Amino acid sequence: MRVLGIETSCDETSAAVLEGTGNEIRMLSLVILSQDVHRIFGGVVPELASRAHLTAVVPVVRQALADANSSLEELDAVTVTYAPGLVGALLVGVSFGKALAHGLGIAVLGVHHMEGHLFAPSLEAADARPPFTALLVSGGHTMIVDVAAWGEYRLLGATRDDAAGEAFDKVAKLLGLPYPGGRHVESLARSGDPARHRFTRPMLRRDQRPGDPDYLDVSFSGLKTAVLHAVRDAERRGELDEAERAHIARGFQDALVETLVEKTGRAARQFGRQRVVLGGGVACNGALVAAMRDRLAADGVEVHAPSPRLATDNAAMIARAGIFRLERGERSGLDLNAYAAMPLPGLVDDGAR
Ligand code: KG4
Ligand code: ZN
Repeated sequence: MRVLGIETSCDETSAAVLEGTGNEIRMLSLVILSQDVHRIFGGVVPELASRAHLTAVVPVVRQALADANSSLEELDAVTVTYAPGLVGALLVGVSFGKALAHGLGIAVLGVHHMEGHLFAPSLEAADARPPFTALLVSGGHTMIVDVAAWGEYRLLGATRDDAAGEAFDKVAKLLGLPYPGGRHVESLARSGDPARHRFTRPMLRRDQRPGDPDYLDVSFSGLKTAVLHAVRDAERRGELDEAERAHIARGFQDALVETLVEKTGRAARQFGRQRVVLGGGVACNGALVAAMRDRLAADGVEVHAPSPRLATDNAAMIARAGIFRLERGERSGLDLNAYAAMPLPGLVDDGAR
């Protein structure tokens, strides 16, 4: 089947055309338009995001069809992110997707954004398939998910406060770096000395055991406060120069990465998984991917990190997850709506957490 994917949950307007069935799925095109307007506000402004999606959605879909050499009539279905995200932003994609599918007389299916992230690495690596442990780390989410099979998920851990990307963005702001700050913190950290600031690893203690509520959860607000104090101390001493900012960035990144690697490793061990799949914008972080590969290789665990285009928000992952569900006979009605929050579909709750 040939499927159009649409993604408008945050500040990327994206469309993709995928073709195939089962595990044999090809990406014919992927267009991602990142909204630049939020940079000057230091964060995503929901109303501006909705407006930018409205202007962009038609040309972005047209471009995706042109790149795929596809006409609208060759499409079998439209898949669109319907949750979670900014409601006004999601509504643009959902309304457009429903209208397009209705006009063409084809199926429409709402796709959960986080399920999309689980599928993204499989578009590049045939081996990135269940069973695996997933670490999804973006500006809005931090989740550790056990994926026994496609559509069969256990939410093992989540953040108690800030998402990993949010922590990067806030620390970037403290260090005077532009928004979104993740990649700027990463490049500043490269010249930092890891021994200068050894921040406490959040939610990481040796006495934690499987079944403890904090064994797999994370929390980054304490780390962010520690960074704030380090910045203020250096400022007071008149030593907040480029080198000191790099040391702080390095200390922050090391602490965050070590926590994420340890928690993901724990989840993989607990379920005996040999594969780990990463997703979300923070999966673009080279230090995180390298540390994950380094530490988990000893247990024979293979780590799949998607390329930046597929790690960050994109419509190809939505179409990919959509094809899986369309093949199971799932369809949405024209009453499909957008939701800011929604649990992952296919959650198994067997008290394993
Ligand atoms: O998945 P994504 O594109 O959008 C959301 O759904 O949030 O993730 C964006 C987040 C931002 O917080 C950004 O700072 C972070 O991903 N990010 C990074 C890197 N590249 C993007 N964080 C750390 N290191 C990076 N290289
Ligand atoms: Zn995302």
